[in-house]
Amino acid sequence: MKRTHNCDELRLSDAEKDVILCGWVNSRRDHGGLIFIDLRDREGLIQIVFDPQASENLHKTAESLRNEFVICIMGIVSARPQGTVNPRLATGEIEILVSELTILNKSKALPFEVNDDKDAGEDLRLTYRYLDLRRERMKRNLILRSKVIKVIRDFLDIQGFLEIETPVLTKSTPEGARDYLVPSRLNPGNFFALPQSPQLFKQILMVSGFDKYYQIAKCFRDEDLRKDRQPEFTQLDMEMSFIDEEDIYSLIESLIRKIFKETMNMEIQIPFLRLTHEQAMARYGTDKPDTRYGMLLHELSDLVKASEFMVFKKVVESKGRVMGIKATGGARFTLKQLDDLTKSAIDAGAKGLVWIKVLENDFQSPVKKHLGEQLLQSLVNEFEVKSGDLLLLVADIAPIAMGVLGVLRVKVAEALNCAGNEGFNFLWVTDFPLFKYNVEEKRWDSEHHPFTSPKPEDKKYLDSDLARVRSCAYDLVVNGTELGSGSIRIHEEQLQQKIFDILGMDKDEIKAKFGFLLEAFSYGAPPHGGFAPGIDRLLCLMSNSASIRDVIAFPKTQKGFCPLTMAPSGVSEKQLDELHLTIKG
Ligand code: AMO
Ligand code: AMP
Repeated sequence: MKRTHNCDELRLSDAEKDVILCGWVNSRRDHGGLIFIDLRDREGLIQIVFDPQASENLHKTAESLRNEFVICIMGIVSARPQGTVNPRLATGEIEILVSELTILNKSKALPFEVNDDKDAGEDLRLTYRYLDLRRERMKRNLILRSKVIKVIRDFLDIQGFLEIETPVLTKSTPEGARDYLVPSRLNPGNFFALPQSPQLFKQILMVSGFDKYYQIAKCFRDEDLRKDRQPEFTQLDMEMSFIDEEDIYSLIESLIRKIFKETMNMEIQIPFLRLTHEQAMARYGTDKPDTRYGMLLHELSDLVKASEFMVFKKVVESKGRVMGIKATGGARFTLKQLDDLTKSAIDAGAKGLVWIKVLENDFQSPVKKHLGEQLLQSLVNEFEVKSGDLLLLVADIAPIAMGVLGVLRVKVAEALNCAGNEGFNFLWVTDFPLFKYNVEEKRWDSEHHPFTSPKPEDKKYLDSDLARVRSCAYDLVVNGTELGSGSIRIHEEQLQQKIFDILGMDKDEIKAKFGFLLEAFSYGAPPHGGFAPGIDRLLCLMSNSASIRDVIAFPKTQKGFCPLTMAPSGVSEKQLDELHLTIKG
């Protein structure tokens, strides 16, 4: 028997047709003799019916069917009797009266139900990922993923991009994480690194004159994992020649708009909002602000100057800052919640947290007396507070005060559900600093990567004031998640060399790591720039999933482990010998 239709294809207009369907038993109900089965395949569900009156033998076999058995049936499409139509099912007006049944395969008792979305525990889900992927939500996520990638390919093809693959066995690329290494059997003692991104190759492709490149690229980073990080993830990697930032912004805006329109029928407003890095930090305390709600940071240093509260006074005197946010409705937080917020503030680097609950004609705060009536009144005016609000104030050097409030703002918004379901707020964050100071190691690091071009007007500070040099780097942010990152690159060998010098790399190190790139730049490198959004993060947002693991077919756990295959795992002595490796201890 060869199937004639999928399980979502038939409608009332097909009544009386003979059909052959294949799929899995999603559920079985016995009703006074009749056996009803929801048959499931990738496309959907259809009800099939076994009637003992039609065939006793067939009905007997149907009694042995269990969930997730794989079957093939022949039958006739029939309108469901009045009152039994299921409006929640696309095929809900019909059922198939079965005349033949073949059991193609049986299934053991299931470790968790496939036909519902009840939490099965992630370890179990990943161990039996093939069953987990049969579930409706996971199936929908992978279908969406496939559609999004198709839209990307079609769009970029029309825009004149070429899809070019770059090596997976390669050399370390500087994206700031630890490399995954692969020992080379043919070159004893030497290792390939898996690419953290195709950054160097895409720049070299520009030197080769390919002009517009893209790739749906696998990237590998050995870093501590979080819900939006996987050791192995996918970027839409892009690079273009003879372009500027504006070209990238408008290309990506059109692409994102098209993706949402074609896969979710959703309108995304373009152009996206833009904030400089400096604005984002000053207003939101983070370089990836969630702009679905306000709760902006306020600078209070001038206000608190007159106060006698020593904590604030001392910080302002030593050129620090006092800053704060207002949580509308936050006065309902319990002392336990406020303690947790204080703990989060301290974890984020604060020395403490001042909270002030605004009550009907009164304030509540552990430091109310110290703050004084006058300061409280000026805070009321500054924040335009209402009864029921909560103020959170932090005193510290500017980056810490901002960073801490940035963290608190997100926590408070979660607790008060400030973001609501307001859709997707896309935002460009621009003009990042080129360098960041590494206090522990007392040196300057790249904020993005060492190939990012400084702003032409800031090149003059490269010899005098590194903190002041801004870069031609931009991030795409949506609802508080960094979705993508890119920059206009350095294409002159000398400038690239100078940046390496500033980063403290010695000549031999540069030659060993990036000599081939510098050499390439000396043969007519065009000005170029690019961008790379994370596909997993995009899908996670689009599907409203709790973790990027839910949009990847076979992800790793938080500990970087695959419970399905049990990778990583040990290898034989022989393999180690061939690779010239010994395991310590
Ligand atoms: P960057 O390192 O910012 O830039 O990465 C770009 C985007 O990739 C995604 N991403 C991740 N997704 C899941 N798990 C991870 N561990 C992970 N790490 C990064 C994010 C991020 O915004 N070569 C540059 C791009 C360029 O300059 O063109 C790069 O890789 O969505
Ligand atoms: P202390 O004088 O350290 O007991 O702090 C008094 C109050 O001020 C406590 O509620 C602290 O949490 C708070 N506090 C201390 N240092 C800071 C700071 N740098 N910024 C904001 N609040 C602080």
